[in-house]
This record gives sequence, structure tokens and C-alpha cells, in this order.
Amino acid sequence: MYKKILEYTGKYRKYTYSSIVITLVAVLLNALPFLIAYQLIAPLLGFGEIDSSGIVWRLIAIAACVTLYALLYPFGLRLSHIAAFNTLKNLRISLQKRLEKLPLGVIQEKGTGTIKKMFVEDIEAMELLLAHAIPEGISNIAIPTVTLIFMFFVDWKLALLCIASLPIGMIAMKMMYTSGTSKMGAFYASAQKMNNTIIEYVNGMEVVKVFNRDGESYRRFETDVKSYRDFTLDWYKECWPWMAVYNSALPCVALFLLPVGTWFVLREWSTLPNLVLVLCMSFSVGGPLLRALGFASTIPQLNYKIKALEDLLDHSELCCSNGGFKGKDHGISFENVRFSYTDTEVLHGVSLDIAEGSLTALVGESGSGKSTLAKLLVHFYDVNGGSIRIGGQDIRDMSIEALNNEISYVSQEQFLFNISLLENIRLGKPDATDKEVMAAAEKAQCGEFLSRLEKGIHTLAGDGGKQLSGGERQRISLARAILKNAPIVVLDEATAFMDPENEAKMNAAIAEIIEDKTVIVIAHRLHSIINADQICVMANGDIAACDTHKNLLHSCGEYQKLWNAAQNSMEWKVSSEKEAKV
Ligand SMILES: Nc1ncnc2c1ncn2[C@@H]1O[C@H](COP(=O)(O)OP(=O)(O)OP(=O)(O)O)[C@@H](O)[C@H]1O
Ligand SMILES: [Mg+2]
Repeated sequence: MYKKILEYTGKYRKYTYSSIVITLVAVLLNALPFLIAYQLIAPLLGFGEIDSSGIVWRLIAIAACVTLYALLYPFGLRLSHIAAFNTLKNLRISLQKRLEKLPLGVIQEKGTGTIKKMFVEDIEAMELLLAHAIPEGISNIAIPTVTLIFMFFVDWKLALLCIASLPIGMIAMKMMYTSGTSKMGAFYASAQKMNNTIIEYVNGMEVVKVFNRDGESYRRFETDVKSYRDFTLDWYKECWPWMAVYNSALPCVALFLLPVGTWFVLREWSTLPNLVLVLCMSFSVGGPLLRALGFASTIPQLNYKIKALEDLLDHSELCCSNGGFKGKDHGISFENVRFSYTDTEVLHGVSLDIAEGSLTALVGESGSGKSTLAKLLVHFYDVNGGSIRIGGQDIRDMSIEALNNEISYVSQEQFLFNISLLENIRLGKPDATDKEVMAAAEKAQCGEFLSRLEKGIHTLAGDGGKQLSGGERQRISLARAILKNAPIVVLDEATAFMDPENEAKMNAAIAEIIEDKTVIVIAHRLHSIINADQICVMANGDIAACDTHKNLLHSCGEYQKLWNAAQNSMEWKVSSEKEAKV
């Protein structure tokens, strides 16, 4: 699993390895003074000659070790941090690339909160693994191991006494992991739920206020925050007693060594110099071991986060190849297309042919599947059955980029990035000049509202475009599509938010941009599409009829119903306007 994470280190992997070597040397230098201290103490206890020049050299050696440790340790950590933060960057970029290829449904299912948590917090947690746990953990394990081996050479009985307290700490740690891990799943699920609720609460503030749902919405917010607290405390309560035992028992290597070792010396089973040496060396066992195991305690959490990341990374991608667009023209055919977002099928075998350069209108009741059909064409989702072809080429046989180049899609829910309106429009054609962007904005009837803004086209769109009205957002999205100038244009309710005056202007602009293009227009206002080459009436996830306005009025009951409703609303509007004048 860590191997997989290390794969993301890329060219910085050598930094990780260098940092392991450097921290290892640093930790060795940190342990060495205890050995030198023994050589200083031994003669004072009457073992060996007191050599005054040797004392000076040994003191210098201790100072050198401490200084080198102070220099090398931060240097090693610096390298591991460079590697770690670059790995985090690589992980985030590859996660974003994966997200691009995942069906929209998978992303929506996870929720914004969970995805944000993965991008920000879960990936950040890898920093502990890469920057600290790997270099420091490895070196802090290596030092006690080497020291213990050396101790066994000096006096195996004293070495055994030194490690006698370790099992207590190890058992406590094992218990801590076992009890902690059993709660981990529920703990993380609760954290993700809280994240999603907080984001939903903030995003839905408008609805909360309008419908006076402050109390209810807050209660859900409060419940999730409280349940997260309860899960956290529950988790810690399981771990605390064991944590206390292992924190106190593990570093206490002198627990048996000092009393039993002294007894061994008195019984002449061991010697005093050996006891002093082993005691000095034991100081470099407990501390590093505790630090290393401290990192180990974070591993179950990391495991969980890595697994969640991998689950997302491993989710089956959209079915598409790397090929380019090779269609013979830009005619579109839906062949027996079936699709379901969840368990319920929403499109039941839709077949529809759209000739190149023609204008097709999709009409039908709300929820009949119009937007879904458009989303399948732009390959937001994979069809569950049947196929969609452009110029004879299945859209699954081309890359998402290749397909995107062929289609300008203005969706029902316009989203603007919080960058200037100019840059938002330029997304349609990244290499467009400012002049081209302005011209597209003008064509999409943005001129009038842009002139009202203090900074004009350089105004920031706000979070998700929230600083603009619905109609203004639609015009910016349309300008983006105009600039893109792709051979296929899909407009999903592109003028739904507009007032009649702007709608008329906009329809004129649309008429201009769709000339010579293959166009699909989804519209509720039937008057704007009566001249379409074909009007397809959708009902309950299928196409009820497909013909011209004139023919449908005679042959399709569903269309007559829609048309009558549209007529009634027009009459209602005219009469209310008349009444207003009276
Ligand atoms: N993300 C989604 N997850 C689950 N079901 C969805 C999702 N989006 C749409 N649906 C369902 O699919 C069906 C078709 O929805 P679609 O948005 O295509 O309708 P529509 O014809 O565009 O309606 P409208 O005219 O209101 O825009 C509806 O029953 C809807 O509830
Ligand atoms: Mg729709």
C-alpha cells in the first residue's frame, strides 16, 4: 500500500531515500555520546586508567556528535518534507485527473464534503507518513535494534533484562490498535457525514432562510457535529488506558535492568562495568523506540485514508479510448440508449437520428429525460445499454478531450469559476484574444449588464458565479459556447431565466451561432423552437414522437398537450399585461 503512495513521489524519491540515510546517521550520532559517556565514567568507577587527554578528546567527540546531530537531523527532515509535499502535489493532481474521468454520478454520490476532505485533509495526512514516519520511523527503529544487538555481545543476561519491560509496552500497544481499529470505520464515516452536512448547510443557506428552516437545518448540523464528537471520544476512550500503559512502560527499559542487574553484579553473574555500559546504552533504546511506535500508532488511520483514496482512484473510469474524433460528419445517432442514475432506469431505449447541420428540439415534461440525454451525449456518464455515435463513431471510441472539442454544451445549471468574467468566457477557447472574448460577450447580449458593472468584463464571477443573476450567468455561458465555435451545439434551457426582451435578442444571437451546426436545443418555451427541423417529444424516458411542429400538432397527443399549455400561459401573460394597462 505504501509502495503505491511512494510511486507518487516521482523524481523526488531520491530525496526520501537520502533523508532516510541522513536521519539514520543523525540518530546514530545522537546515541553515540552515551557510549562515549561510558568511557568517561568507567575510569571514575575504578575500571581502567584515568587518561586526562582522552577525557578532552571524548568531550570534543560528544560535542561534535551533538553538533552534527543538530545539523543533520533538520537537513534530513528538510529533504523528507520536500519529497512529501511534492508527493502530495502529485497525489492531488492525479486524483484530479481521475475525477475528470469518473462518471459524474460517482462524484455526486461521494458528496462535495467527502471529496474536499480527500483532497485537503486525507492527502495532507500523508505528510506525516512521508515526511516523518518513513525517515524518522525507520531510523528510530534501527538505533534500538543495533544497540540491543551490541548489548547482547557485551552481556546477554543484562540485554535480556533491558528488553524485559518491552513486552508490556508492546501488548498495550497491540491492544490499543485492536480496540482503535474496530472503531475506526464508524469514526471516519461520522467525520465524512459531518463534512457533507456542513457543506450542504452552507450551500443551502438560501433555502434555509427562505423557508424558515433555520431550526431544523441547524438541528441536523448540530446532530452530526455532536455525533462526530461522540465517535471521537468513544474512540479515544477505547485507546486511552492502553496508551497510558504503553507510554509509561515502553521507555522504561531500566525497570528491570537497574535492580535485577545490580543483584546480578552482587552475585557476580555480571560485572559492574558491563552494567554501567548496558545502562548507558539503554538510554538510546526507550526514547527512539517510543518515537518510532508513536508513528506506528498513526498507521491504522493512514491505512484507512489511503484505502479511501484508493477506492476513489480505483473506481471504474468512464469507458473511453485515447483516440481522436474520426467521425465522417457531425450527425448524431442515439441507438437504443438505456440509462439509470441509480437503480431506476430513466431512459428506456431511446433511438434518435440527428442529421448534420440540422436543428433538433427536445421537448417534454419535467423529468422526462431531456437533460439526461444531453449529458450522455457529452459523456458525463456511460450509457447502460445501446450507443451514441457522432458521424458513425461511438463516443466511447474517442477521448473525452476529442469529444469536448466537437461539442459546445451549455448546461441547465451554469457554473462559473471565481475568476474574471473575461477568463470565464475564455475557457471556451483558451487561446482567444481579449478582442475575440469581447466579441463573443457582445453576441451573447452581455454588453448591457457588463457596462453596469464597475469593473465590466474584469469583474470576478463570485463563488460558482453567485455574484450574477441566473440570466446573466446564462449569457456568460452562452458567450463561452459562442467563442468555442464547435460543430455541435447543445443548449439545455439556455434562455430559461431571461426576460422576454432579452430572450428575443438571445434567440437572434443563437440563430446566428447555430448556423451550419448540428444543434440540439432543449426548451420548455415551445414558441422558440417551432421552426426546428425536428421536434422530439420525450415522455417518461422515451421518445413519444419526432416530427415538425406542424405534423406533431396533428399527430402527437403529448405534443398537443404541451402546446396547449404553452398557448394558455401566453394568453395568461397577454391578458395580465392588458389588465395591468387598464
Ligand atoms: N443526478 C441524478 N441522480 C439520480 N436521478 C436523477 C439525476 N438527475 C436526474 N435524475 C432523474 O432522472 C430523470 C430525468 O431527469 P432529467 O434531468 O433528464 O429531466 P428533464 O427532462 O431534463 O427535466 P427538466 O425539464 O425539469 O429539466 C428524472 O426522473 C430525475 O429525477
Ligand atoms: Mg433538464
